[in-house]
Amino acid sequence: LVVGLGGTKRSGSSSERALRFALDAAADAGAEVRCFGGTDLDFPIFVPEMLGEDHEATELIETLAVADGVIVATPGYHGGISGQVKNALDYVEELRDDHRPYFDGRAVGCIVCAHGTHAAFTTLVSLRSVIHALRGWPTPLGVCLNSAVRPEDLIDARAAEQLQAMAGQVVDFATRGALSL
Ligand SMILES: Cc1cc2nc3c(=O)[nH]c(=O)nc-3n(C[C@H](O)[C@H](O)[C@H](O)COP(=O)(O)O)c2cc1C
Repeated sequence: LVVGLGGTKRSGSSSERALRFALDAAADAGAEVRCFGGTDLDFPIFVPEMLGEDHEATELIETLAVADGVIVATPGYHGGISGQVKNALDYVEELRDDHRPYFDGRAVGCIVCAHGTHAAFTTLVSLRSVIHALRGWPTPLGVCLNSAVRPEDLIDARAAEQLQAMAGQVVDFATRGALSL
């Protein structure tokens, strides 16, 4: 099971389109997939007092707990991860005491869409740092897409190749049965 999370609530969200493309590629590689897009991540700001309680993010967290791989897609907002995606990732604190804490033992593919390369790259670095903090294994390939193009040009042949390769790395890592450290 590969779980995707990310995108924005904006109609035609580029990051959500890229996420869904990567999940389709993971499905083609043999994975069962589940997507939590922008409208599915409309959670209140996480506060630690919520831990252990039923809340809007419960379905996401229960699905992540049984995931074999994860793909996260965020827009670059002012050079970093969007508040919405970071807030969803903050809820992963619910998995702190899981038998596989947070994203332990799972490969995590990272996708960033921004209006240009500068914010995309800085956001990719910070997203990977967050994934490391959650004990996930960022895939060697992260994908940065320039969303300042016509929507139909967002996922061109090169972007498609990269998203497919990254999704393949997530599925491959899951199939090998990564060691939990
Ligand atoms: C609040 C906000 C801040 C943004 N900051 C940047 C930025 O610093 N650099 C950049 O290249 N693009 C920036 N953008 C553009 C977004 O990264 C770009 O439009 C992205 O594709 C939005 O994701 P979406 O299509 O999934 O909604 C910003 C957009 C918004 C709304």
